[in-house]
Amino acid sequence: MKILLIGGTGQVGSEIRLVAENNNIECVSPTSSELDITNQSSVNSIIENNLPLDYIVNASAYTAVDKAEDEEELATKINRDGSQYLAQACVEQKIPLLHISTDYVFDGCADTPYKENSPTNPLGVYGKSKLEGEQAIRDCLPEHIILRTAWVYGSHGNNFVKTMLKLGRQRSELNVVSDQYGCPTAAADIAEAVVSIVIQMQTNPNNRWGTYHFCSRDSTHWADFAKSIFSLSKTVDPEYPNVTVNPIPSSEYPTKAARPNYSVLDCSKIEQLYTITPPNWLISLKRDIPNILKNI
Ligand SMILES: NC(=O)c1ccc[n+]([C@@H]2O[C@H](COP(=O)([O-])OP(=O)(O)OC[C@H]3O[C@@H](n4cnc5c(N)ncnc54)[C@H](OP(=O)(O)O)[C@@H]3O)[C@@H](O)[C@H]2O)c1
Repeated sequence: MKILLIGGTGQVGSEIRLVAENNNIECVSPTSSELDITNQSSVNSIIENNLPLDYIVNASAYTAVDKAEDEEELATKINRDGSQYLAQACVEQKIPLLHISTDYVFDGCADTPYKENSPTNPLGVYGKSKLEGEQAIRDCLPEHIILRTAWVYGSHGNNFVKTMLKLGRQRSELNVVSDQYGCPTAAADIAEAVVSIVIQMQTNPNNRWGTYHFCSRDSTHWADFAKSIFSLSKTVDPEYPNVTVNPIPSSEYPTKAARPNYSVLDCSKIEQLYTITPPNWLISLKRDIPNILKNI
């Protein structure tokens, strides 16, 4: 099997490359300087030059949530137009597309987990541009999987776990928001889900196209997540400093873009149709902390 992976240098993309390799999948992964998805003719030619392709996986995105408020045009070009160019090329070449999206398409006002067909209402530019990207794909390419995930962390790129571990070396006390709930999700687990879907669709498509949610099982809030990060780090590296986490309301930590207060995704559809069972977030964090500690 051969796939084209866009965004292979990102948090999720780096892990997809590894998991694809472990499953003997040939993975062509141009960097953003080799392929800028906002350039439609580059998108078309990279696909034509790599045919035949069994799948295209889009893990690329403009992901700077706060900066997007000031860079709406660029965020929209990458997240909406880039997704549309990929989908149009997929239609032309008859290649299915697996596209990664986000919990930020929701406003976080719910108090039960979001299903794939729950009403969307993004709070900011990033979420709006991602939602428009999803819609652009649905509008032209029936053979798509849109995989929404949330609260991503891993060894590559910037994320909450790495930020906490760096800050913990500088300060003995940290104030962390405790009124936003979600499911910390390891990039490595998302990559396993992506590759599993691609393999299953290759052998038995069986009309399972559409939108799916995948995030870790069980939810938490940022302050509790931070406490777990520090306590697990201490068990891996006894020299890691003791850090006190003070829970604060989000009103005491203003950000340029508003965040959803409740980001829990209902993953029962992916469990039923692909038999992919989301892992518990703490178990994945425990597995990944040693490697992340080595990379900060
Ligand atoms: N991070 C989260 O907490 C989170 C939560 C929910 C959903 N998601 C979704 O998960 C997916 C992966 O996110 P991530 O955290 O892995 O992102 P990331 O670490 O920021 O990586 C983004 C990737 O996109 C590439 N890229 C950016 N602009 C591009 C362009 N114009 N053309 C081609 N490639 C471009 C980047 O390349 P360079 O490195 O060269 O710039 C990088 O490889 C995204 O769809 C995101 O919306 C993320």
